[in-house]
Amino acid sequence: MRTGPVETVSAEDRDNSRLGGGAVAAPGVLVILGASGDLTKRLLMPALYNLVCDGLLPEACAVIGMARRSLDTTAFREQQRQDIQRFHTRRDFDADRWAWLESRLHYTAGDFSDPEAYARLRDLVLAVGGDCGAAGNTLLYLAISPEFFQTVNGLLDGAGFTRLPGRRKIIVEKPFGKDLPSAVALNRSLLTHWREDEIYRIDHYLGKETVQNLLAFRMANGIFAPLWNAAHIDHIQISATETVGVETRGEYYDKTGVVRDMLQNHLMQMLAYVCMELPVSLHPSAVRDEKSRLLRSVRLLDPTAVARDCVRGQYGAGTKADGAVVSGYRQEPNVDPNSNTPTYAAIKLHLDNDRWAGMPVYLRSGKSLWKRGTEIVVQFRPQAGDGGEPNVLIFHIQPFQGVEIRIQAKRPGPAFDLQRAGMRFDYAETFEATRGTGYEVLLYSAFNGDPTLFSRTDFVEAGWRIVQPVLDLWNETRADDFPNYMAGTWGPLAAHALLARDDRRWHECITREVLLRSEFFSHAPAVLLNNLTLACQPRAVKAGATVVERGEQSSDLYVVCRGELEALDEDGRRLGGVKEGECFGEMALLDNRPRNATVRAVSPCDLLVLAATDFRRIVEDFPEAEAQFRRIAERRR
Ligand code: BG6
Repeated sequence: MRTGPVETVSAEDRDNSRLGGGAVAAPGVLVILGASGDLTKRLLMPALYNLVCDGLLPEACAVIGMARRSLDTTAFREQQRQDIQRFHTRRDFDADRWAWLESRLHYTAGDFSDPEAYARLRDLVLAVGGDCGAAGNTLLYLAISPEFFQTVNGLLDGAGFTRLPGRRKIIVEKPFGKDLPSAVALNRSLLTHWREDEIYRIDHYLGKETVQNLLAFRMANGIFAPLWNAAHIDHIQISATETVGVETRGEYYDKTGVVRDMLQNHLMQMLAYVCMELPVSLHPSAVRDEKSRLLRSVRLLDPTAVARDCVRGQYGAGTKADGAVVSGYRQEPNVDPNSNTPTYAAIKLHLDNDRWAGMPVYLRSGKSLWKRGTEIVVQFRPQAGDGGEPNVLIFHIQPFQGVEIRIQAKRPGPAFDLQRAGMRFDYAETFEATRGTGYEVLLYSAFNGDPTLFSRTDFVEAGWRIVQPVLDLWNETRADDFPNYMAGTWGPLAAHALLARDDRRWHECITREVLLRSEFFSHAPAVLLNNLTLACQPRAVKAGATVVERGEQSSDLYVVCRGELEALDEDGRRLGGVKEGECFGEMALLDNRPRNATVRAVSPCDLLVLAATDFRRIVEDFPEAEAQFRRIAERRR
């Protein structure tokens, strides 16, 4: 579930666009157990309000909140009216639409362990459902801590909710267990009271348009189908990197860690969509069968494979891109000062099926990294013979939303020179992109009884089975190098080594803004910057490593994204420092001269390397910019 420190939704994060077409949802009564918590005010109510604004909720619907807090319906409505002002996501607030929804809100106070409370709730559900004409479709949303699931489900069953007339759904949020045995136990307990088709497990990644688009992309664009296998694809990378640390969630996170928090669920969902066999239809079971089948084909790691193919990290103090100094993980509130909990993980997996045999998939996720971005990179095999750059297909999940293909194009001019270029589909340019909460489509699907976007028992357990060996080994062995990456960097160096060992590298999706931090690029036109970002390659170096040697005849340019380096003369005397946002090597780049200083990393550094050949080729088309580069370089020298 997404709960952050956000205290209100900012004006620029609001828009009025529609969620898109669709029929009005089926009538129903949504019961939120734990309605006084964060989830209701931050996500559920704004999502319901968005559905109302887009005309997607039926006249016959109602929402009943239940929590310990002793409120009545009037006070609950008043509370929600105040909260929606802070958390709605639309540019203009439509008081009439809200009034429509507010008049359908009801509340009953009750302790979750009190059977009487559930009897009262049942009577209210029947009465409200009868009044508004929505009886027969009851959605029970457990917005409560999983430790209460067993009790609450037992008491719901005891009060007759499992036998209510019509259709019933129980909606649960992650975490679905803390490991494989506890997930199996939780599922068994849920299944004691509910049928599988009544259980709706939410993974909010499936509420993202760009994640749903993975399936659409594959099903509806046949040109990729013949290429979608290990014969044509070299490897796949799935990255979900965050700039935020654990913030106020230290207590939860320290027991959880990145593998349970992100890999077991969100990354598994993306892996399944990208790699599964295409379902024979869009029927929920057809889609969910294929997703589970794919996860079951993941080769399980033994301890040797975990030690070899999995990298863990924990952030130490550092600075963010905006210059803000942030504390290390162990200094965060409610985190053990000796914590062994990973905040970063990179793992290499293999899929043992005909389609993907022999092709690795690399997954990584982490907190407090240099950039927020979820991307899936499909790297094709290089074309035989010409030694050219391989094609890359990138699904940009967030914050940029789109799909991009990196190709080679002939540069304009008499010579037959190739240059890397990008073909981009941008959601914002093509659609009236909506910025809902991500919960709209999930609630809408639940009203309609469509479980496609919810996780089934077998999928959840298959996900746990994959990560369990990693959890076991990392739990049994302490990471004595923690913290091993500084907040605001690209993560531990070992994650880069993991791919370098296979002669591969992580694709860092670089934006113009990264280059613009350096004065050297500050004047460059947007088209030129776009071309340069495509040419940059990431390189991570250890503290103490020499990046260029004085006198050496190399002429690549380096941009410092993170860390600090120093320039040394022939006697090893310090000439000066090179800091984040700066670059070095401009003179060698422009004039092809030998290096006039040695440059050594003072701290671990994340660098972008711009090959001189690429730079010269790209800049050739921008003579004015080239002259300006030279002026800046001369001045800096
Ligand atoms: C949640 C995790 O499930 O997903 C959080 O508990 C994480 O730790 C969040 O920050 C990421 O979601 P999103 O939508 O911002 O990628």
